[in-house]
Parts: sequence; structure tokens; C-alpha cells
Amino acid sequence: AVERTLSIIKPDATKRNLTGKIIAKFEEAGLRVVASKRVQLTAAQAGEFYGEHKERPFFGELVAFMISEPVVLQVLEGENAIAKNREVMGATDPAQAAEGTIRKEFALSKGENSAHGSDSPEAAAREIAFFFSGLELVG
Ligand code: CMP
Repeated sequence: AVERTLSIIKPDATKRNLTGKIIAKFEEAGLRVVASKRVQLTAAQAGEFYGEHKERPFFGELVAFMISEPVVLQVLEGENAIAKNREVMGATDPAQAAEGTIRKEFALSKGENSAHGSDSPEAAAREIAFFFSGLELVG
């Protein structure tokens, strides 16, 4: 089925001017950018977005990292977009990520891992609505 997923190009990647290279990998895999904006997140926004990780030991570090530089928020659309996006990103830990994936090529560590993608249809719906209004999605 055609799905939409929320993608974030993270601060380690925007800082190193890798935005275009990362978007190219999604496009080459057949995903289409149907919404896009570059923003500076606040701690409140990043904390709410990652609310499910609030009790994790890395939560403070995660929020601090996500507000350290601008991020690029995008909605990607395509056949099986949620799984395809995660396949193109590769494993969370760059040491475990497959050849050719975004995290293998660009990520610095488990935390500074260049990209985020929704992990389920429910998460995608919540995460897209968190950052975008319906009017901003142009398929
Ligand atoms: P993401 O897909 O954005 O969702 C949660 C994030 O937490 C994850 O990517 C990682 O960047 C981050 N994360 C997961 N494990 C660790 C860890 N051990 N240390 C720091 N950050 C982590």
C-alpha cells in the first residue's frame, strides 16, 4: 500500500551539509518528498516528540542533540514507505548498519545517527501530525 512516513534529517547531518545526499538516497529508493521544512526545534518540542523514550538513560542527551543544530523534517510517500525508509536508513547503530545505508555511510554513533524514521503506521500518523498540517502535504 502507498504510505507516508515522517523523516528527520538530524543535526549531525545538517551540520555536515549532508541534507541533499540523504534525500537522494530516499528518492533513489522510490520515496517522494511530499512535505519538507528546515527548523530549529525547541527542547519542549523534541522532548514531546520523543516522549516514549522519556525514561531511557539517553533521553537528556537525545533532546540536547536534537536541538543542537537545525533539522530537516520531511514527509516521504511511496509503496511501503515506512519499511522502505527504515531499510534505506539502516540499523540505529551505524556499526550494525548494512553497506550503502544512510547510517553506514554518514552516522557518527547510535545517538548522532543522521536520520529518524517512523517505526509503525501509528507512529507515522502521530509524527506527521506533530510537525505538519494537512495543507503542507502536497502529494
Ligand atoms: P530515532 O529513530 O530517532 O529514535 C530514538 C533515538 O534515540 C534513536 O533514533 C537514536 O538516535 C537514539 N538512541 C538510541 N539508543 C541510543 C543510545 N544508546 N545512546 C544515545 N542515543 C540513542
